[in-house]
Amino acid sequence: VKRITTHILQEMKNRGEKIAMLTAYDYSMATILGDAGLDVLLVGDSASNVMAGHETTLPITLDQMIYHAQSVVRGAGRALVVVDLPFGTYQGNSKEALNSAIRIMKESGAHGVKMEGGEEIAESIQRIVTAGIPVMGHLGLTPQSIYKFGTYTVRAKDELEAEKLKNDAIILEQSGCFSLVLEKIPAKLGKEVSQSLHIPTIGIGAGPDCDGQVLVVNDMIGLTKGFKPRFLRQYLDLYTGIKDAAEAYIKDVKGNDFPNEKEQY
Ligand code: KIV
Ligand code: NA
Repeated sequence: VKRITTHILQEMKNRGEKIAMLTAYDYSMATILGDAGLDVLLVGDSASNVMAGHETTLPITLDQMIYHAQSVVRGAGRALVVVDLPFGTYQGNSKEALNSAIRIMKESGAHGVKMEGGEEIAESIQRIVTAGIPVMGHLGLTPQSIYKFGTYTVRAKDELEAEKLKNDAIILEQSGCFSLVLEKIPAKLGKEVSQSLHIPTIGIGAGPDCDGQVLVVNDMIGLTKGFKPRFLRQYLDLYTGIKDAAEAYIKDVKGNDFPNEKEQY
């Protein structure tokens, strides 16, 4: 089967077919998600939270993102693989941003990068796109700026912030982004932005009118303990499932039930 491309994502928006995206950080999960038929796998810097246990996305490094991306690319099947540029590897200047994007593409084999921000990173995006690297934008709640905002609450609820977001979205499209993530903004604004842009929007807590949806896979399969924002639909309770399995294993080992006659040589 043929790999999903940024052009195919554009065609999907044009004909009204929704884009399904999830995060992935390792080979096993990427294999399952690729086999399931996801359109896009995002190697999110949420790996900093759900893989490494950090409180924020800030500590994860470019080398660590490349390691996750290499693993995901090997399992992704036909899915397009997009990788977050981590905090501190693109905000300095456009040359630094280009070098970071090139390292991700060369060393991981991924198909594109994602960056948080609007007008302030437009020059960097243009430079990366000019080098032939597809860029996905990210507006609304941008976790790399958590210390500027102070909370993870809904963004762009007031008119001023909403106007800025709409303007940033247009700038990102004009800068050459092939798609745009909208995180935790009012559904009405998600709809407005999605309708005003030619490129597809991918929402997370941005309402039903975005051109696609994304969730952190660990959250949607219930691996994450005690994280249940309103926008999250949890499809499995793997925390409980794995804990029950681990407890059963402990019981079997301690009770001399495992291994049995068939489970030995
Ligand atoms: O890192 C991440 O998981 C993301 C998605 C929530 C869009 O950026
Ligand atoms: Na991210």
